Amino acid sequence: MSSQNPKRYTITAALPYTNGPVHIGHLAGVYVPADIYARYQRIKGKDVLFVCGSDEHGVPITLKAKKERITPQQVVDKYHEIIKRSFSDFGISFDNYSRTSAKIHHETASEFFRKLYDEGKFVEEVTEQLYDEEAGQFLADRFVVGTCPKCGYDESYGDQCENCGTSHNATDLINPRSAISGSKPVTKETRHWFLPLDQYEGWLKEWILEEHKKDWKTNVYGQCKSWIDDGLRPRAVTRDLDWGIPVPVEGAEGKVLYVWFDAPIGYISSTREWAEREGKDWEPYWKDEESKLLHFIGKDNIVFHCIIFPSMLKAEGSYILPDNVPANEFLNLEGNKISTSKNWAVWLHEYLEEFPGQQDVLRYVLTANAPETKDNDFTWADFQARNNNELVAIFGNFINRVVVLTNKYYEGQVPKPGAFSEEDQNTLQELQAAPEVIESSIERYRFREAQTKLMDVARLGNKYLADEEPWKTIKTDEERTRTIMYTALQIAAALSVLCEPFLPHTATKLRGILNVSSSDSQQANRIENSWKDISEKEELIPAGHRIGTSELLFSKIEDGQIQHQLDKLEASKKANETMNAAVEPQKDTISFEDFTKLDMRVGTIISAEKMPKTKKLLVLKVDTGIDTRTIVSGIAESFSAEEVVGKRVTVLVNLAPRPLRGVESEGMILMTETPDGKLVFVNPDDDVPNGASIS
Ligand code: 2FM
Ligand code: ZN
Repeated sequence: MSSQNPKRYTITAALPYTNGPVHIGHLAGVYVPADIYARYQRIKGKDVLFVCGSDEHGVPITLKAKKERITPQQVVDKYHEIIKRSFSDFGISFDNYSRTSAKIHHETASEFFRKLYDEGKFVEEVTEQLYDEEAGQFLADRFVVGTCPKCGYDESYGDQCENCGTSHNATDLINPRSAISGSKPVTKETRHWFLPLDQYEGWLKEWILEEHKKDWKTNVYGQCKSWIDDGLRPRAVTRDLDWGIPVPVEGAEGKVLYVWFDAPIGYISSTREWAEREGKDWEPYWKDEESKLLHFIGKDNIVFHCIIFPSMLKAEGSYILPDNVPANEFLNLEGNKISTSKNWAVWLHEYLEEFPGQQDVLRYVLTANAPETKDNDFTWADFQARNNNELVAIFGNFINRVVVLTNKYYEGQVPKPGAFSEEDQNTLQELQAAPEVIESSIERYRFREAQTKLMDVARLGNKYLADEEPWKTIKTDEERTRTIMYTALQIAAALSVLCEPFLPHTATKLRGILNVSSSDSQQANRIENSWKDISEKEELIPAGHRIGTSELLFSKIEDGQIQHQLDKLEASKKANETMNAAVEPQKDTISFEDFTKLDMRVGTIISAEKMPKTKKLLVLKVDTGIDTRTIVSGIAESFSAEEVVGKRVTVLVNLAPRPLRGVESEGMILMTETPDGKLVFVNPDDDVPNGASIS
């Protein structure tokens, strides 16, 4: 394990819960960094296996199904496809994207559990668990919310607090309440299997706190240390639920594996699925000490990937352990936490509808702002600035100049250089050093830094052209111009390789423009460069080679496009405010007899006049189906007399008549109010006739 030059790489990216689409937070925190790393190792010619899949069990899925009144299977079928599509659209180059409802996963997870069970690695215990009597169900994980025993946050889930990240048991919550019925749970005895994490504490201390003190990220190491220092307790790995993988032992009817027991095994099942399809052996990727296992995750998954899953692997005995778990912090959006329920997010499928073909722009901005060491913020203004000032003005501009000039001066043929000046030599030397500079950052999981160094290569090219001015020398010195253009073309060819991990769509486009192929292409007689070639080859694109014509790599993003995004967020904010607006407390209970005394009818306003010398009152004539009567209504600040004529309304017709400013009002029109105080009619459908009673 942990070798400097491993035989192969097993790279995993957290399996997303299949209860909604994926957004920029997912991409920035997990999938783009994992993809950069996997692509980079592949270009270096390494044996890489990059796996992921949908996490289809667990309470979030059941809750979503309850909310939408569909089955959990329908929920996961819908989102699995949407998520898979988004990953593929954004160029996340998984070798396999599986799902935990797949047969192979049920088998793999069941076998894993069974082995630990047979070898006596679990503790079996009957304990008191929270139970919702109204719903007739045990409450664990996200089925129960309450106050976090550690930080006092009062919306903590049963298994984890999203505020402080602590992982706990549902019974640890203070004032627990059911997320299904809202009721206060009782406790009830039930039998479960526990992984005795306390028995692994000594080993974890040595493995993480000693061996990985230097190479794991500070945020990851710090969280692990704090959990280990707090003392580890046995952790239940089974649940009383009906959605999940049935516990594969006798006497466990009605019980399933805890989602955090089965989900990480999903990495193994995904590997097996891939191996079966490709006719390969899956085991070396998980069992050979010379394989490097890496888990890319977000910070809320640290305990599961650094403590619980490794303890499971250790207990099983034949698996390797992760070499590193480069977890990221969270990405915020315009200063606020990304939230699915509040629709405060940029959804990947929506982004693509609005910025078609611009996947790499988002990848670029998310890497430039990646929350590698602390939470970071995504803003649309920054997105626009990075696109226009960096991708368009530096990278795109350089390539465009090189390609346009090569076509203009040499009909698209790479010119033969003359003698190289000192500037040319320095520039080419800097270019040769670039792969090493970039890779030293990637190898340390510093992807922002690596991408900055990639952009430095484009900057180098831009500056070189600006300094050497081939558009001027063409008038005076042909040989010098040929040398300049040849040198600039070498930089362009290097960029087509170096940008591949970060901007894969751009790399493909650029290789097309330069008429060179990627290292995995089968085409013969084409120019092919690997990562190493940039430092080692004399030339990357030879004199005489014909390139294609120019095509814009990036295009300017206009203010209007950004404003549209900001307007969408503003609309989400408004909708949330409306939802959260203080609701008046319920009035005292009335009897059914009281209710039947109210006679409410559907009616139509047939005429309206402003009551003279008042601000609020309109005098209405209303057809109630029973009669046409006069009603004085205090709605003039929200409606003009003209606009209410013809409105369908609900009328309380047996309210005792009362005089208002000398006019007898014979009923009341039912109204409600928007959060900003505008009155709104409670109006029936058009197909209900006047006089229909409301009961
Ligand atoms: O946090 C999540 O979205 C989880 N579904 C991650 C699971 S990662 C792994 F263990 F599969
Ligand atoms: Zn907490």
